[in-house]
Amino acid sequence: MVHQPSNPPYFDGLLHRLAIGEARTAAAFSRHVHWGYWHEPPQATCTPEEYGEAAELLSRVLCDVAGIGDGMRVVDVGCGFGGTIASLNERLGEMLLIGVNIDPRQLQRASDMVRPCGINSLKWVEADAAQIPLADASCDVALALESVFHFDRPRFFAEVGRLLAPGGNLTLSDFVPSERAAEYLDAIDFSADEAVRWSYGQIDLACSLSRYRELAKANNLELTQAIDITENTLPTYDFLYSSTKDWPESREVELFSRATRLLEKASRKGMLGYQVLRFDRL
Ligand SMILES: C[S@@+](CC[C@H](N)C(=O)[O-])C[C@H]1O[C@@H](n2cnc3c(N)ncnc32)[C@H](O)[C@@H]1O
Repeated sequence: MVHQPSNPPYFDGLLHRLAIGEARTAAAFSRHVHWGYWHEPPQATCTPEEYGEAAELLSRVLCDVAGIGDGMRVVDVGCGFGGTIASLNERLGEMLLIGVNIDPRQLQRASDMVRPCGINSLKWVEADAAQIPLADASCDVALALESVFHFDRPRFFAEVGRLLAPGGNLTLSDFVPSERAAEYLDAIDFSADEAVRWSYGQIDLACSLSRYRELAKANNLELTQAIDITENTLPTYDFLYSSTKDWPESREVELFSRATRLLEKASRKGMLGYQVLRFDRL
């Protein structure tokens, strides 16, 4: 598959629904655009408000695994509307927080919404994850929350290996296939499916843990934690199906539901695990 960086298509609809003041979208996605995390998945109610809280919780899970604390320099690659940076900005002090995104519309929304607290410093950088205009060893933590499947992974790992200071870490979340599923996903191009391409754009879900280990090794990093949180994320799917109920175009609902069902089935059958991975800089 040839990698071509581009804005993911789901942001077109999201930005439109936010611009017209659609209340459900605002409650669920005004800050974070990723799967949710529930401590007690069977008790999920899947209201838009609860979804927004579950999304905030997932962001905090990643920040905790990364060990982010006061005074750190954090770059969030594929930062969406800056929700994770907003959360860190509210909770911690003396931070340098940098959001990187390929989509200037998302960065504009982020910089309009997130104002630095105290002496925290915020920067928004328009760039491809494969070429990040930051100096060598200038960050303590790099985050990629549900964005790495859009990136050219080898080039992204090379960039992170370059910009992390010694002792720093990269913490990301991704849909990680089992080793067998990775072979299968290699053989088919998941994004060639019309529904997947229309809904989620170009995504590469074929990076298993052994491939991640190889990528890390080639870039002076080591995979030190892999936490499977699939069960805690599963209520996301019911919320995503219900979120289409006000969409005016039935064809769009059909495509989005079909693509999302593929992801749900692969997750429930153990082919894809929603994992939080931490890589430490050697
Ligand atoms: C699922 S969203 C996650 C957004 C954000 N991390 C969050 O959790 O709210 C994926 C993000 O990756 C960004 N993205 C996709 N391809 C990119 C690339 N090549 N370089 C930088 N950002 C990219 C998208 O614009 C989007 O903001």
